[in-house]
Amino acid sequence: AITRHYTFDVRLQNVTRLCHTKSMVTVNGSFPGPPIYAREGDRLVIKVINNVNNNVSLHWHGIRQVQSQWADGPAYITQCPIQRGHSYVYNFTLTGQRGTFFWHAHITWLRATLYGPLIILPKHNVPYPFAKPYKEIPIIFGEWWNSDSEAVINQALQSGGGPNVSDAYTINGLAGPLYNCSQKQNETFKLKVKAGKTYLLRLINAALNGELFFSIANHSVTVVEADALYVKPFKTDIVVIAPGQTTNVLLKTKPHHQQSRFLMAARPYFTGTGTFDNTTTAAILEYYTTTTTTSKDHHAPLIRPTLPAINDTAYVANFTSKFRSLANDKFPIRVPQTVDRTFFFTVGLGTSPCPKNQTCQGPNGTKFAASMNNVSFVLPNTSMLQSYFFKKSNGVFTYDFPTSPLIKFNYTGTPPNNTMVMNGTKVAVLRFNASVEVVLQDTSILGAESHPLHLHGYNFFVVGQGFGNFDPKKDPAKYNLVDPQERNTVGVPSGGWVAIRFFADNPGVWFMHCHFEVHLSWGLKMAWIVEDGKLPNQKLPPPPADLPKC
Ligand code: C2O
Repeated sequence: AITRHYTFDVRLQNVTRLCHTKSMVTVNGSFPGPPIYAREGDRLVIKVINNVNNNVSLHWHGIRQVQSQWADGPAYITQCPIQRGHSYVYNFTLTGQRGTFFWHAHITWLRATLYGPLIILPKHNVPYPFAKPYKEIPIIFGEWWNSDSEAVINQALQSGGGPNVSDAYTINGLAGPLYNCSQKQNETFKLKVKAGKTYLLRLINAALNGELFFSIANHSVTVVEADALYVKPFKTDIVVIAPGQTTNVLLKTKPHHQQSRFLMAARPYFTGTGTFDNTTTAAILEYYTTTTTTSKDHHAPLIRPTLPAINDTAYVANFTSKFRSLANDKFPIRVPQTVDRTFFFTVGLGTSPCPKNQTCQGPNGTKFAASMNNVSFVLPNTSMLQSYFFKKSNGVFTYDFPTSPLIKFNYTGTPPNNTMVMNGTKVAVLRFNASVEVVLQDTSILGAESHPLHLHGYNFFVVGQGFGNFDPKKDPAKYNLVDPQERNTVGVPSGGWVAIRFFADNPGVWFMHCHFEVHLSWGLKMAWIVEDGKLPNQKLPPPPADLPKC
């Protein structure tokens, strides 16, 4: 194991896409940001220097941060943001984890432009549970706004309504040939492949608000990993990937081929009622020319893959139900078979009262809000982890996050609406090593919508999911406690529920939230406090000396 040093200079850079040039916040001037490669067991030392006017904070999505809680990164949860002219060193060891991760800004909407792959290879001489691929390629999905992202942020936060939607989705930062202007400028990611080889595609959804269908024309892929955890391999033509999720797939190229170029494309899955970006991003899969291909092939029209309808919830549910942990001798799992604490959380969109002196765009002049158990989370203006560690939580947060919905949930009728939720900075407390079950139920006044729920500091097992209302009498009997998938971001199904379990073995303050940025900014988030255990390595360590101040 080695220590790898990176310097991330956060600075402005002019970037042009879709014939629009704008100055935007980047790491080291690149969009997407630089990839990080490491091996399991390595230490990462990443110095982040802020040279922009925005406050900045970076998060290493999916990394558990065992004994490095101060490096997790969500602003006002585990640290104060890094102010202009200041720096902070994120210093953490990659223990017990390998696979596809990503890093992104974790403050307001800055992750629109600040994100990049974080790839952890297995230790030397530790093989994958599948044949070694010929090559490995990160495919990171994102979004592009023609206007200044700053304007998007302000619109979202001030109007109490929805932000304007993105102008394009991107694959490795490029929108691809299906957008007019981008076609002229040749802004297309091209993956050049050899015939008859196996490629590992590391798919990462870093988009702010787009859950995506992804497919490659005339090719199927084999899913082998989700959120950096191996799964029982299964074949599919179309992958579904939500913001915050990563999926590794094996792509076997054709032994011989008639046509040498194929489109791979992604576009959103969406069931809500608001406006959204329904455009299609694409990249090109191009075979190296061999004697069997003629130059004519390069001018043949590109075949587009077939993608499901925008609101095809049945496809999503069927795809999601295929994930299973390997759960074998080499890759055992430890699923909580019994639980010490069970929680039932409603998650959804709704409204809250409009603040005085403001005009709000919600129904009847209310402000749009998103909530968990009818509480719309408000970020404090100092670090919760720091307040907790120094026992100064007074005025920062309260310990009364409701363990069940404030508006009583009717298990047999229609979901309650979330109108006029309350605001608060409330946490739920877990004893060290408690085995925890959380049932997350989608409820919404804006139409049922899926919510990619992400938990910091942990992976969890998805033991059950279904449509309609969770039935506490019947549904637990159907849980999979043998080989459930393990992950860090799960879609709460549109109009349905999901049940997750984990052992609370990582002390600290851990954010849990919807990975749709618009829902996150409306308050669909909460925080857990996991108490210290008895042993020294089960206690929250003191903060590093350079921890930013608010
Ligand atoms: Cu990738 Cu709290 O997020």
